[in-house]
Amino acid sequence: MKALVLSGGKGTRLRPLTYTMTKQLVPVANRPILHYAMDQIRSAGIKDVGVIIAPETGEQVKESLASNPWNFNLEFIPQDAPRGLAHAVKIAQEFLGEDPFLMYLGDNLIGESIVPFVRDFEDGGSDAMILLKEVEDPRMFGVAEVDESGNVRRLIEKPKDPPSNLALVGVYLFSPEIHDAVSEIKPSWRGELEITDAIQRLLDKGLRVKSYILRRWWLDTGKKDDLLEANRVVLDELVDKDIRGEIDGRSRVVGRVSLAKGAYVIESTVRGPAVIGEGSVIKGSFIGPYTSIGRGCVVESSAIEHSVVLDGVVIRNIDRLEDSVVGRNTVVSRERMNSQALRLMIGDDAEVRF
Ligand code: TTP
Repeated sequence: MKALVLSGGKGTRLRPLTYTMTKQLVPVANRPILHYAMDQIRSAGIKDVGVIIAPETGEQVKESLASNPWNFNLEFIPQDAPRGLAHAVKIAQEFLGEDPFLMYLGDNLIGESIVPFVRDFEDGGSDAMILLKEVEDPRMFGVAEVDESGNVRRLIEKPKDPPSNLALVGVYLFSPEIHDAVSEIKPSWRGELEITDAIQRLLDKGLRVKSYILRRWWLDTGKKDDLLEANRVVLDELVDKDIRGEIDGRSRVVGRVSLAKGAYVIESTVRGPAVIGEGSVIKGSFIGPYTSIGRGCVVESSAIEHSVVLDGVVIRNIDRLEDSVVGRNTVVSRERMNSQALRLMIGDDAEVRF
């Protein structure tokens, strides 16, 4: 079995971060989202991995995977524009050949192992398998109608009147039958080749599509609050106490805190779960639960909680920063403690709230 990871797309909902960084590389607990997908693929025992990349961000994706701790045979497949998930399958056909494959959207995070799902498919009996999750409002998702045995009857993209509350999570398994189905569909109203249409095509031909319902969390890191929630859940579940940096005698580090090598905590309190990246300095500050601080940051005389701070950020004299996402190399600082004036130099689509 091979894997096809989708790491192209536009990532409009996570702007401004995604003006300079592809969505799949946005860090959750200081690791790119894409790396969690790669961990899952590795745990399923897959070796050959094709990665769909976009012209604007392909180099970053390659760089981020270059050290390849998973020992994959990686092949990068350029997609000229985001023409749809089924289009990604189409351009990967030569790489995929006649093998069955796991397709994984590189911006999805799921809270349970995909191994049982993959094994179930390998045991045979179906031409495709989709991973589903019960959601509160299915109208924003691709939705599946499923019978009592888990066989998929019908798929509908963003239905006004959903037949179930089972949304398609971005993880699929396909037999090579999918290639014919992809070649038989036309672009949708939004101009994309939709994978839901290709799967529906399999059903129309009388082929069997099974489903597997995810019991634990699934986070589609589409928007800022989703990203903060993903960060909270991953810090809660996956981060252990791991102190490699230095802590001075006047600091307190409580709970599950990962402090990378070369990081310093000086006269500060860090309350986990939290991660602090390589070379960052925390001085006279409070880092509260559910906070990720990237590499090479300086936090001075400030308090931060429930936030994601990317690499190279400086935060100074900020009494309380919470529920925030701070992009790379940003400075957030209060120059004079009593000043009411704001002095800003912020990029497009930024959000400043007081
Ligand atoms: P989407 O979330 O549908 O699209 P997007 O990344 O462009 O995001 P936004 O809605 O914020 O603009 O894509 C799901 C995943 O699949 C995402 O990781 C990008 C990837 N993708 C491709 O690689 N090629 C494609 O043609 C499309 C549509 C998505």
